[in-house]
Amino acid sequence: MSLLAVDQEKCHRDGICAEVCPARIIEFKGNDAFPSLVDGGDKICISCGHCVAVCPYGAMSHTIMKPEECQSVNEDWLLGPEQVEHFLRYRRSIRNYKNEQVEQGTLTKLIDVARFAPSGHNFQPVKWLVIYDQDAVQRMAAFVIEWMRHLMKEDSPLVAAMHLNRVVSSWEEGNDPICRNAPHIIIAHAHKEDRTAPVACTIALTYLELAASSFDLGACWAGYFNAAATLWPPMQQELGLPEGNVNFGAMMVGYPKFKYHRLPLRNDAEILWR
Ligand SMILES: Cc1cc2nc3c(=O)[nH]c(=O)nc-3n(C[C@H](O)[C@H](O)[C@H](O)COP(=O)(O)O)c2cc1C
Repeated sequence: MSLLAVDQEKCHRDGICAEVCPARIIEFKGNDAFPSLVDGGDKICISCGHCVAVCPYGAMSHTIMKPEECQSVNEDWLLGPEQVEHFLRYRRSIRNYKNEQVEQGTLTKLIDVARFAPSGHNFQPVKWLVIYDQDAVQRMAAFVIEWMRHLMKEDSPLVAAMHLNRVVSSWEEGNDPICRNAPHIIIAHAHKEDRTAPVACTIALTYLELAASSFDLGACWAGYFNAAATLWPPMQQELGLPEGNVNFGAMMVGYPKFKYHRLPLRNDAEILWR
């Protein structure tokens, strides 16, 4: 069975599917021909679904993606530049959370948005680990502090670079500078050998952070957490990721305690034009 199936009743033979195909594996064998897969194309296809999504007539099907399974674009929901700018600038790192759990179904929906983030070759290498239990989140934060104390004992240059003395002191005063008392941590992980994974995980977590506010959730990158999970074997053991996988990013998630009313300023863009 071919990877692609063309509904000849619907196809207008406009060639758009072939033009957008990133792998260039759709051809027209003659003037009256319908689109077809080049020889060996099934081995090259990256299953991005562009051929299905771009066809205005719903004529193209892929074995793993039929047009009727792919939601139609809703033009009314597309945002203009001012709304997009406002939405992106409205995103904040949330470090104060209500003492309230988020339902697992809501976190699943949030991750379900993030999984549509782009990845090199459309490999989609990102896997997720949710540390759902708040006690477990706190246990992991304690591992991060243990790692920091280890670095302090070793006189590591990271201590000054990451202000670890202040972080550890704050922990000892009863604060949580690691996970900010967030009820949940969401980790993006992938196989350590996958070259597309670091960027894919970063983009997926960025999608997740941006999408959070639409669920009334707040999120914040857990950088200290991620550094310890990357570098501290006892923490890696506690995380228990699948064999061969490593974490590429972690995000605190919960219901925000406060609302922001203004969009803070940032440095001007430095742009070189060539
Ligand atoms: C990779 C990365 C790691 C971060 N790690 C932490 C962290 O461990 N703890 C924290 O409170 N904020 C962390 N942040 C949040 C930044 O401090 C924040 O993005 C910055 O201050 C700008 O604020 P804004 O996100 O509200 O625009 C991190 C951000 C990024 C992108």
